Amino acid sequence: MTKTTLINYWNDISIQYQMYMQSIRQMADAYEIEHGTKPRFCIKTFGCQMNEHDSEKINAMLVQMGYSATYVTEEAQLIIYNTCCVRENAEMKVFGHLGALKPLKQKRDDLFIAVCGCMMQQPHIVEQIKKTYSHVDLVFGTHNLHAFPRLLQQAMNSDDILVEVWENEKSIVEDMPVIRKKSLKAFVNIMYGCNNFCTFCIVPYTRGRERSRLPKDILKEVKQLIREGVKEIMLLGQNVNSYGLDFAEPYSFADLLADINTIAEDCRIRFMTPHPKDLSPALIAGISDLSNVCEYIHLPVQAGSDALLKRMNRRYSRQDYLDKVALLKQKVPNVAISTDIIIGFPGETEADVDDLIDLIKLVQYDSAFTFIYSRREGTPAAKMDNQIDEKIKHKRFDRMLKALNEVIIEKNKKSIGQRHTVLVEGKTRDGHFLMGRARNNKVINFGGDQALIGQFVDVEITDAKNFSLYGKQL
Ligand code: SAH
Ligand code: SF4
Ligand code: F3S
Repeated sequence: MTKTTLINYWNDISIQYQMYMQSIRQMADAYEIEHGTKPRFCIKTFGCQMNEHDSEKINAMLVQMGYSATYVTEEAQLIIYNTCCVRENAEMKVFGHLGALKPLKQKRDDLFIAVCGCMMQQPHIVEQIKKTYSHVDLVFGTHNLHAFPRLLQQAMNSDDILVEVWENEKSIVEDMPVIRKKSLKAFVNIMYGCNNFCTFCIVPYTRGRERSRLPKDILKEVKQLIREGVKEIMLLGQNVNSYGLDFAEPYSFADLLADINTIAEDCRIRFMTPHPKDLSPALIAGISDLSNVCEYIHLPVQAGSDALLKRMNRRYSRQDYLDKVALLKQKVPNVAISTDIIIGFPGETEADVDDLIDLIKLVQYDSAFTFIYSRREGTPAAKMDNQIDEKIKHKRFDRMLKALNEVIIEKNKKSIGQRHTVLVEGKTRDGHFLMGRARNNKVINFGGDQALIGQFVDVEITDAKNFSLYGKQL
């Protein structure tokens, strides 16, 4: 069915890795006999849901190899950082953590440190790790995650740092083991990579070209999750509307949603992220008509003026975006819309920020992730010569955020009196309330018995304290 994608199945791949897995398992078993506990691993994950989900796969491979998980770094024999490089501060955090591990590594010769993920796909970062953080034992990238058992075994038997980063994606590996962090909600990859090359963004360089998983593999995974009692599925891709474009026969993201909808009994379906340029009427119809698909869309706008959108290579105009939002609102009553915004892109003017604020007010966003532009080496925008001064970026950011927050708070206030079905996820941090999400992704806190956790409960919103909504069970 695929034109380009090579699919490998974990059952076949893992046969190649049996020897490595067994060798680690033997070491882990010997450790358990000596210490009375399994060796422990601690994974720290930075970045987006793609990375979260990759960590769930590493977690499962390690459990198969005889390790057990811990959240306490100091307790672990194996520490793994799964890294993100979408903005500079994500990278600085990783370097901070790695630096702090140096004294621990010097004290404990049983400690093994691995670093993987998007940062490692950049050669200058690997060089920096080899030079400054030579206490790291293993470096690998996003394209060879499935080779982790071999890499771990080889690195554990070597005195030198082992670096293996594949420049390109080679195939999709299906059926890899996964241990999911949450039992109620599950991430499901539908595709990998990105072909869009927005000029600010590093992701196409770290995650490779778009590859879609076969519908049969996705449906099999979803069926299994539903059997396990999962109540919400988040379909993941950097640009989900491009799903299926690499297939020989036509099969779109809207087709996939419809097929998942038929098997997702008692289970919500969400997806992330659709690109505004390819938001099709068929997908809007899917959100409106498919009973399990939630009335919520994350539609990253990034900027509010045509000049910036063009230089960002987003391939939609301000008016295209507004037209699509209008169609969404018309076809999906009460749809909730969230977005991503970047302030401080090269060449941005005060008038561009005015346009963005105006767009925020027109769309009436329900929430937003807001970022200050971060120069990423290797991207076209990093070479643009009209970079914005940091102080100005912060001033503009504050101005935009004030306007955005007013819109969000106003919208929250207007929601008082609405009735929603909430999937109860747990308790609030202070333990006083239950918290859950409505289909439109709003978090609602309400009083109730903790036996309701994991269930769908009807709630009426009774109060809105700026960003938090409170309700009562109906
Ligand atoms: N594929 C998704 C986005 C993935 S990255 C999409 O296209 O929507 C998540 C968000 O990080 C982006 O939407 C953008 O707002 C932000 N981002 C990416 N690169 C950035 C950079 N260099 N500086 C600041 N924010 C950035
Ligand atoms: Fe980055 Fe643009 Fe691709 Fe999103 S669509 S991952 S912002 S290049
Ligand atoms: Fe970061 Fe990689 Fe995701 S760069 S945002 S972890 S795809």
